[in-house]
Amino acid sequence: MHSEKDLIAGAKEVLEMNDRGNYTQPAHGLYPHQWLWDSCFIAIGLRHLDTDRAQTELISLIRGQWHNGMLPNIIFREDAKYRADRNTWQSWLSPYSPDDVTTTGITQPPMLAEAVLQVGKKLPWPERRSWYSKMLPVIVDYHEWLFKERDPHNEGLVLQIHPWETGLDNTPPWMQQLNDHLLPFWIRSLRTVKLDHLIGMFRRDAQSVPMDERFSVIESIAMFDIQLRFKRKAHDIDKILDHAMFAIEDLNFNSIFIRANSCLVEIAKSIKIELPESLLMNMKKCEEALEQLWDPYSGQYYSRDFITHKLLKTPSIATLLPLYGGSISKERADQLVKLLDERGAFAANYPIPSVPLGSPHFDPKAYWQGPTWVNTNWLVIKGLENYGYHDKAKALAQSTIKLVEKSGFNEYFDPNNGEPYGADNFSWTAALAIDLDKNYS
Ligand code: GLC
Repeated sequence: MHSEKDLIAGAKEVLEMNDRGNYTQPAHGLYPHQWLWDSCFIAIGLRHLDTDRAQTELISLIRGQWHNGMLPNIIFREDAKYRADRNTWQSWLSPYSPDDVTTTGITQPPMLAEAVLQVGKKLPWPERRSWYSKMLPVIVDYHEWLFKERDPHNEGLVLQIHPWETGLDNTPPWMQQLNDHLLPFWIRSLRTVKLDHLIGMFRRDAQSVPMDERFSVIESIAMFDIQLRFKRKAHDIDKILDHAMFAIEDLNFNSIFIRANSCLVEIAKSIKIELPESLLMNMKKCEEALEQLWDPYSGQYYSRDFITHKLLKTPSIATLLPLYGGSISKERADQLVKLLDERGAFAANYPIPSVPLGSPHFDPKAYWQGPTWVNTNWLVIKGLENYGYHDKAKALAQSTIKLVEKSGFNEYFDPNNGEPYGADNFSWTAALAIDLDKNYS
């Protein structure tokens, strides 16, 4: 690809290819369903091409909202072919699950408020007002659910119960917890008797993508095991947290939630709606509680184990996301921004690696354990803007566009040589390339 026109035309083609009428699948084959934060990023790109279609993307996403307010990370396709995917979760076991669609029982980073706000900005006033009025109650219910169900001790931060909820599925801090403490005996035994390799041969994702670009077999079995537990407990959070395998206050999730809360406040103000006092108080508490994740010795934020309250001191791309949250001090933001230029941290040929280059967990091919992703670049670009680093934001936006022009609309890229990995024709890469191009070229 050589010109802006080619980039936009190519991106449009990818989005059309993955368009399933009222939603866009992330990629053909590997990701056939509707995903929460994918649809939000997709709508942010689509708004430049067709505001009606961008609205449809988000309206179809909220079909999945549970009666308690939760937005699930996946709404499943109803075709017979995907029965096994739906049955793994059996969302219908919960009295709160929606009536017309089947979903998982877990959520994903709360990008909806940002997507609704950004799509709204492209609409003329009367239309924008009705768009915000329609979406606001959905976002309020979702954020209230997050505080109610996922902050059971009323401490400010919200907890996550499955690695998928972070959106950074096999990110090192979570995988380390999984490997160190939480693998059930039967899964460990598979490794001992070397059955994991054999089981790997039957994985569906291996049909679309080479195995060294995905999870380890043990990691995927462990995640599957967690899903089965949730199903056994009919997706009841009290039962899940009782003997939880995982409960982590994730840095990526909470940073995005803080930004989402600000977006919600902006939406409400623009249509002159007052948000519930208790929600506003919780938002403030969440921003304050994020500071408990700061480690003064390393000058970084980390995710925290919900039960022991210990910081999980393994850096990842989440390290940079409090910039996107926008609530941290300028002084701390400056410390994080320095990491972008540090060799051994995030200064790669094709930034930003999802794990610092000097980390023992760094692997340039392995999914969220090293590769560069366009969506996290987009979040960091917004974060740099929040703290006045306009030149750096522009440079990162342009290097991201160049990477996509050089390597294609892949799911992720090698931060050393820019090689494309994972699924090709990946929707959020295309959508966010459009958004970056429109804002920075
Ligand atoms: C993978 C990613 C997740 C994304 C999903 C669909 O699971 O880790 O963030 O939402 O694919 O693209």
